[in-house]
Amino acid sequence: MSTVDAASGTGEYAGLVAAVTGGGAGIGLAIAEELAARGARVAALDLDTSALPEHLTGVRCDVTDRASVQAAIDEVAEKLGGLDVLVNNAGISAVGTVEDLSDDDWHRVLDVNVVGIARATAAALPLLRASEHPAIVNMCSIGALNGLPQRVLYNASKGAVLALTYAMATDHVGEGIRVNCVSPGTVHTGFVDRMLAKFPDPVREKAAMDARQATGRMVSPAEVADAVAYLASPRSGSTTGTALEVDGGVTHL
Ligand code: NAI
Repeated sequence: MSTVDAASGTGEYAGLVAAVTGGGAGIGLAIAEELAARGARVAALDLDTSALPEHLTGVRCDVTDRASVQAAIDEVAEKLGGLDVLVNNAGISAVGTVEDLSDDDWHRVLDVNVVGIARATAAALPLLRASEHPAIVNMCSIGALNGLPQRVLYNASKGAVLALTYAMATDHVGEGIRVNCVSPGTVHTGFVDRMLAKFPDPVREKAAMDARQATGRMVSPAEVADAVAYLASPRSGSTTGTALEVDGGVTHL
């Protein structure tokens, strides 16, 4: 529990403080909203916090910059009174095969999707150790386990997120800090729209994305947020080192 009484005092997250990287838009914003609805005080850490509603605390943060991440985590602790839950959600995509992608592309995507998690987690750990219910949830993807066309870099980055999740869970289980990840299928956000725009035939690519979901539809940001809210809550106290697929059946059906 954080050191300050919860503003609302109700809900399964009452008294808890959460920080969500990439919380300014898309899935991260849905996660921030869900945790707030369940009683947490929530900070959204993002390059752009301009679209945030008032009940969320926006903190400017670039996960590729260690000093920026440390300053953001310090600001969360100061403004909200501690930190119980870290959601490492910030992520970017890249389209292409190994022949299409430059070294700069590789460094840029891995820096956000993988090293960004390490930076935010390292900054948060001292605060999480002071919490009674510490939890970390990383944003993975079905790309970690499924070979998707033209996603070689993105998938490699998410494979690393999966391995990182298991290894972090192992390192910190002894101090009571749980680490899990969520692996969504395709979720219709700005992220997907930007990716689609890079294809020669975006309409055809969108149809392929829809068809990939066994359920016949894309996953909603709220469904991913629900899964994160479960894994980060004291209710999942025996769950650590897992990947929860919210993927419309893509991975196992
Ligand atoms: P989005 O592009 O809609 O939102 C991402 C947010 O992260 C933006 O607010 C952006 O400003 C922020 N961000 C980007 N770089 C940052 C940085 N260096 N520091 C801080 N914030 C930064 O993306 P979306 O769809 O919400 O994706 C969120 C996460 O979910 C990502 O990790 C993505 O890989 C993952 N994911 C998305 C899927 C999808 O189909 N949309 C499927 C599976 C996983």
